[in-house]
Amino acid sequence: MSETTKKKAKERAAVEVVETAAETAMEAPAEIRIEPKKKILFVASEAAPFIATGGLAEVIGSLSKALAREDKYDVRVVIPLYQDIKKEFRKDFKFIGNTYVALSWRNQYCGIFEYCRDNVTYYFLDNEYYFKRPGCYGYYDDGERFAFFCRGVMELLGFVGFYPDILHCHDWQAALAALYLKTIYCFRPEYQFIRAVFTIHNIEYQGKYSLDILEDLFGISYRFKNLVEYDRCINLMKGAIECCECFSTVSPTYANEIKDPYYSHGLDPIIRRNEFKLRGILNGIDPDYYDPSTDLALFENYSADNRKGKATCKEELQCMLNLPIKPNTPILAMITRLVTHKGLDLVKEVIEQALRQDMQFILLGTGDSSYENYFSDLARRYPGKVVSIISFNSDLSRKIYSGADLFLMPSKSEPCGLSQMIASRYGTVAIVRETGGLRDSITPYGAGGNGFTFRDYNAYDMLYVINEAIGVYHNKEEWNKLVHRAMTTDFSWASSAHCYEEMYLDLLK
Ligand code: GLC
Repeated sequence: MSETTKKKAKERAAVEVVETAAETAMEAPAEIRIEPKKKILFVASEAAPFIATGGLAEVIGSLSKALAREDKYDVRVVIPLYQDIKKEFRKDFKFIGNTYVALSWRNQYCGIFEYCRDNVTYYFLDNEYYFKRPGCYGYYDDGERFAFFCRGVMELLGFVGFYPDILHCHDWQAALAALYLKTIYCFRPEYQFIRAVFTIHNIEYQGKYSLDILEDLFGISYRFKNLVEYDRCINLMKGAIECCECFSTVSPTYANEIKDPYYSHGLDPIIRRNEFKLRGILNGIDPDYYDPSTDLALFENYSADNRKGKATCKEELQCMLNLPIKPNTPILAMITRLVTHKGLDLVKEVIEQALRQDMQFILLGTGDSSYENYFSDLARRYPGKVVSIISFNSDLSRKIYSGADLFLMPSKSEPCGLSQMIASRYGTVAIVRETGGLRDSITPYGAGGNGFTFRDYNAYDMLYVINEAIGVYHNKEEWNKLVHRAMTTDFSWASSAHCYEEMYLDLLK
């Protein structure tokens, strides 16, 4: 190397050193790494506001919205396209194509519709043979209908090219999606990293079928019989619990209770065996959807700090239901399905004793005819004191939530329950039995809580707290404080959505 070349090389090196030094002295530019959004797919048999028969739909609608609020997640939901989904929604659904779904020897058409709302993408799977019927459930071929739906979900993923990180299946109707993933689809490369989560909203309904139809109807090979077999039947909920990476239920207390035969409807050995992957996460409600300061169904709006409108709601409700207009008479309300586990036997046993005092009782709900008859008869025997409305009507339910003073939920078991949260938000103080989510959301007045509670499933314990609550009602200063506490309790998804996130992230580690 000549002297000049050596000199030039030296100079170049020196410049480079200076540049490097200057670079290190400067703030290192932040590395721009765009984390891909985590993909979550909810599989469920209903979702509010499109189609709702109970709390499940509300949870699907509001939890997906809460998760999608954060830009970290691409949240999608898939449900069947039922006939009962109203035209006002349908008209905006976009048909994106169709596929065929194999169920053993069957090969069924599956149309796919798409709709976006609150940052969530919804898919609706269409097949008129299965879903062009009134209502969602209760058909002799429900097993086949939801098998079609779940297998359709698996096909949907390929069709739209959306392979979620988390496939979150809810209740037995969606259990087969987890089963199909783990027995059939996970052998395909795109599906192999999908983690399955299963949530039990109510352990009472497990999806039980005869073992003979495992291959012929569900299209699952007998090789996998052990996964789904329980008590000599196919048990779809059991199958989903066995094959998901993680399962949860809708309150911490219920997560504990279902390990016990009293609550488990026979599934406690399976729950206990899989306990290591069980979590209990309390449901929330959508605080915008249930907001007494904006709810258009109310006679007058009000808020925790200005409750004047609540008195109007009470007066108008009494007027509408032909009850004497008495602002200082407490109204005890129930809005419930009329089924045994809602604790109606306790009510039957002592309601007439409670009615000896100055109070009014309003019941709204449908269900078993024996309870329907009982409450209709009670209303006939106590005119001006008891009103029973045997139907379900969302507008009326909001008028009752806002117009009543006390809300009774004496459930024998209650996975979570949303009504106690809605009532509290509307300033109607809850009286609950300490079970499942009722125990986790309502804390006793005596301990500075937001409602009234009793522990044992005993009618006289319930009567005792009803009377205690009515006593507090007549102490206006105490009552006002209690109503304020109830109305300002945080029932939003804020902390619970975070628990779901934690569960997902643990699985994706
Ligand atoms: C079921 C449960 C209810 C719960 C709801 C939503 O309907 O019975 O307690 O709140 O699901 O998870």
